[in-house]
Amino acid sequence: MTGAKTLLPGATIGVMGGGQLGRMFAVAARRMGYFVHTFSPDKNGPAAQFSDQATTAAYDDEEAVRRFAGAIDVLTFEFENMPAATIEWASHQQLVRPKGAILLTAQNRLREKEFLAGAGFPVAPFRRIANSSELTQAIEAIGRPAILKGAAFGYDGKGQQRIDPETELAAVWEGREDELCVLEAVIDFEKEISVIAARDPSGATAVFPVSENIHRNHILDLTLAPARIEERVAAAARELACDVAEKLDLVGLLAVEMFLKSDGELIINELAPRPHNSGHWTIEGCVTSQFEQNVRAVCGLPLGSTGLLRPTAMVNLLGDVWQGGEPHWPAALEEPNVHLHLYGKHQPRPGRKMGHLTAVGETVEAAVESARRARERLALN
Ligand SMILES: Nc1ncnc2c1ncn2[C@@H]1O[C@H](COP(=O)(O)OP(=O)(O)O)[C@@H](O)[C@H]1O
Ligand SMILES: [Mg+2]
Repeated sequence: MTGAKTLLPGATIGVMGGGQLGRMFAVAARRMGYFVHTFSPDKNGPAAQFSDQATTAAYDDEEAVRRFAGAIDVLTFEFENMPAATIEWASHQQLVRPKGAILLTAQNRLREKEFLAGAGFPVAPFRRIANSSELTQAIEAIGRPAILKGAAFGYDGKGQQRIDPETELAAVWEGREDELCVLEAVIDFEKEISVIAARDPSGATAVFPVSENIHRNHILDLTLAPARIEERVAAAARELACDVAEKLDLVGLLAVEMFLKSDGELIINELAPRPHNSGHWTIEGCVTSQFEQNVRAVCGLPLGSTGLLRPTAMVNLLGDVWQGGEPHWPAALEEPNVHLHLYGKHQPRPGRKMGHLTAVGETVEAAVESARRARERLALN
């Protein structure tokens, strides 16, 4: 179901997915007087801990999905990698924002790239790969270095292999068997940036300041905002994100990851039709956070100002931070401009996103320094 319906405070927002994005969404929604009902296969996860109600069931449990969809007033997502059938069952029963077709596009790299390229948006040269001979041909066409990515279920660099001049193609394909993949050219970028746009049911858009992202081991490590790029490039990046949201006919939030080349050219890397790790800084850094904006867009309320309050930096806290025991929280918070966000996850596995620290500053450099220093202080004993 789609439509221009407005959901007022007092309505129940259903959220598919149970992670930290759903948790921070629930905080914003409940603050505004909405009820939040989450659906996740994991019991008492980050989102459930902050929800009014939590359904614990598998995504392929049709009866549970239908019952959940019938118990809410609108459905949104904090996670896009669920079976198409789940989205379809829910869509039959309930207003779904963003609409299911957008989830299906964004959950598969091939569909996503084909949509973007087909609509004339800039993407890295790519090929669809379904077997080893297609890989050999595509490498001829695209050249090296290239990156082979599984089409489905990838995040934090999982399922990706880089193909350098000396890489043996046979070894790359081993273990993939007949997995559908995308081969793309490696882009020699100067910076990675992302832009989060919101679009409401009437088609109005609002776009946040550009985030500059630094990854470590393919996982986002640091976001600083506003990105240290030319105003002209920032304007182009923001316009690009709005154009993609428009083309998708999105209602909700869209994060657009981009590569910025040294000549100023922008290449779209990935889309996420939901809140994004690179937008967590907006909680402290902007007039309206990405999470509140998501609530407003999904409920059909006027979008809030995306104005920047202060330069801001965010560092992720991965499970690795727990290696030497419980992190020293008071030491980190001795930085008075630093804010702690923990997601309520019980197992601090290496590489797992457990929380983040946000710092505001007079300049973006000062904010970065505070955030990094605070994270280093977690190891003090
Ligand atoms: N075509 C590319 N050229 C250069 N670097 C890339 C390319 N694709 C991915 N990367 C690097 O790998 C990271 C993760 O890839 P991405 O496609 O965003 O997958 P994930 O779903 O894991 O975030 C990117 O943020 C970027 O640093
Ligand atoms: Mg990515």
